[in-house]
Amino acid sequence: MITAIQILVQEHRVIESMLLCLERLAEQAERDGKLDNERSGTIIDFLREFADACHHGKEEDVLFKFSDTRTVGHGPVEVLRDEHTEGRGYVSVMAKNRLKAVSGNPGAIRSFCESARDLTNMLRRHIQREDEVVFPMIEEQCQSSDADQLWQEFVTVEKIAGGDRHKKFVESARSCCRHFNVPFHEDHITQLIVNFG
Ligand SMILES: [Fe+2]
Ligand SMILES: [Fe+2]
Repeated sequence: MITAIQILVQEHRVIESMLLCLERLAEQAERDGKLDNERSGTIIDFLREFADACHHGKEEDVLFKFSDTRTVGHGPVEVLRDEHTEGRGYVSVMAKNRLKAVSGNPGAIRSFCESARDLTNMLRRHIQREDEVVFPMIEEQCQSSDADQLWQEFVTVEKIAGGDRHKKFVESARSCCRHFNVPFHEDHITQLIVNFG
């Protein structure tokens, strides 16, 4: 059976595919002198609702809290928490500039694209560190009863959120990837939908 940490790793793969779409969106905006209205709205919604509320939510409210109980002083998750905050800043700059960039304002396009690139670069490094360093370290601290507890807490978080946000945001990532010709790996998401809807 898949673990709570493996669910987060699968969510990373969906987020990475949307970061590629965001890169394409920014390149296109710079080339055309205007931002795609529909796709920029879809990607910002995804970043706020899936990457932040759903994914960072489970990390901060469940996994990092568990790690705090096993680590003395400032653990490695402190840096990850700070990067989540940094990411929220980039997304709010993008959201603030979005409509002006859609209407072709050069300064707004520049700000949107700069924040999109800063977010993409930071989140890629962040995800790699979670996958390769921090999650394996937390996994080592997990007894099987802890793993069960983390799983149950994830189930509760998703139930409170309505029980269908994976289905919704995986579909919006799949459709964005199709639009921007970005690979979308179906095999990375099977357990997300099966377990969390
Ligand atoms: Fe994170
Ligand atoms: Fe993560």
